[in-house]
Amino acid sequence: MAESNAPQKGLEHVTMGDSKVSLVAGETGGLSYRGFDVNELVPAASYEAVAHLLLYGDPPDTDPPAELTLALRERRGVPVEVQCLSESLSAGLPPLEAMRTLLSGLGDGHYEYPPTIDQGLSLVAGLPTLFTGYLRRSDGKTPVSPDPALSHVANYLWMLTGTTPDPEKVRALETYFVLLADHGMNASTFALCVVISTNSDLISAATAALGALKGPIHGGAPSRVVDMLDAIGESGAADRYIADRLGRKEVLFGFGHRAYKVEDPRAILLKRCARKVADPARLELALAVEETALARLRAHRPGARIYTNVEYWGAVVLEAVGLPRRLFTPTFALARTVGWVAHALEQANDNRLIRPDVRYLGPTGRRWPLTRAV
Ligand code: ACO
Repeated sequence: MAESNAPQKGLEHVTMGDSKVSLVAGETGGLSYRGFDVNELVPAASYEAVAHLLLYGDPPDTDPPAELTLALRERRGVPVEVQCLSESLSAGLPPLEAMRTLLSGLGDGHYEYPPTIDQGLSLVAGLPTLFTGYLRRSDGKTPVSPDPALSHVANYLWMLTGTTPDPEKVRALETYFVLLADHGMNASTFALCVVISTNSDLISAATAALGALKGPIHGGAPSRVVDMLDAIGESGAADRYIADRLGRKEVLFGFGHRAYKVEDPRAILLKRCARKVADPARLELALAVEETALARLRAHRPGARIYTNVEYWGAVVLEAVGLPRRLFTPTFALARTVGWVAHALEQANDNRLIRPDVRYLGPTGRRWPLTRAV
């Protein structure tokens, strides 16, 4: 008989609370935000409209939503003290590390517990400005001021590059942002909720979430997907590479998911997007590698139900948009910030300290052998 306090390793199948933000249907491959299937939202909805949906619970009256769009544009500036922090950071930090430091620097009096929508909008709008400003300075370039005429996603590309972004690339990146905006109680959102549950502030919680997102088996996977494509080089080399990797018991980045036991719906939509925007040779390689990986995984772990996840085709789309791979995870974080805010609001609205048990398996009743010399 199972012990009553036997742990659920990785908290698999543990329900930590109630949520109305997003529904992940792992057995059927569904994802909806506030009741709207993501297949309805892509490509129809702007990121601003999805942000409205996630933060307020209902769709806006118009798309783009006039009030929220204006509120975001008004909050794109960066507080002077955080600007100074950014300027004091040494050049060449890994972008995710820089983002984490800058994000924690936002934690001034404005962000005290409980989290509010106003705080959330400041975070969502301000972080891209802060982050791109650091990146440009770090590369010896002048930071680019936000352009109030541009949407949230277009403005991010504008501040990164200083050139007017190509509309097709904006649309592709917006698809990515919409699909990555939220995803149930994933590891980074859980980290955020734990911090909020202690009545700590939104910035501390988002910084913890970013730390969790960084890990290679969570949001750190996509750059490793394109590393893998580069290492394989041409489709004929895929089988050998994948077999060797699985033989060494290494995971294939971009495959497998805790929740989805069928294909990740975001992977399906991003694959569709990649077919439109990716370089044909890259697309062909990515398709061949995916097919080989799935076949090898099926043979390697019969019945394991491992499918392509969001990171695989997300990586191909981000690359096609022109982002260097060191920006993949930070870009994921920028897309997810709005989901983090929605969960922070929900957690604080019906809060109880998150404090699970652990089963102790160490020794008991030992006697301390030493007496301290006086
Ligand atoms: N490649 C090879 N083997 C895999 C893969 C994979 N991509 N995914 C799962 N497996 C294996 C596991 O190693 C495990 O083997 P074991 O029983 O011998 O230990 C078995 O399949 C069962 O998988 P779990 O580890 O129990 O699955 P879990 O739910 O804990 O992990 C995870 C899910 C972390 C996403 C895993 O599939 C993985 O590491 N994938 C690769 C990294 C990746 O792409 N992460 C991004 C996920 S999407 C996101 O976070 C936004």
